[in-house]
Amino acid sequence: MSKSTVSRISISLPTELLEALDSILKDAGYRKRSHAIQVSIRNFISEYMWKEETLCVGALLVLYDHEAKGIEDFLTDTQHKYSEVITSTMHIHLDERHCIEIIAVKGKGNLIKKLAGEFLKREGIKQIRISTLISK
Ligand code: NI
Repeated sequence: MSKSTVSRISISLPTELLEALDSILKDAGYRKRSHAIQVSIRNFISEYMWKEETLCVGALLVLYDHEAKGIEDFLTDTQHKYSEVITSTMHIHLDERHCIEIIAVKGKGNLIKKLAGEFLKREGIKQIRISTLISK
């Protein structure tokens, strides 16, 4: 995102929300509240924009049961099918039964969404988290 101009706004927040924010800022080492709020707003925007035609970079975190029938073949086949947007993959053996696949992605948001949708509907996949940033 370009940073050519700055606009000032005034917002109202419940006191407890502001206190919770300030507590997190202190722990996380943010020096300025406005910087933390800018980061939060960018994250909020990217949560919505990744669904569009926008060029996105990020990762899908996929938690799955590796004993589910055909799951390993499914993961491999799906990643080959979407090789256009997958840049690399990391595999973590979590415990005796579960694994996490971290799939780095770069491409149009709608294609990344389609890839995530393939995982979401497959039995054996227990949780998926999509985290993308807008690359411009
Ligand atoms: Ni594993």
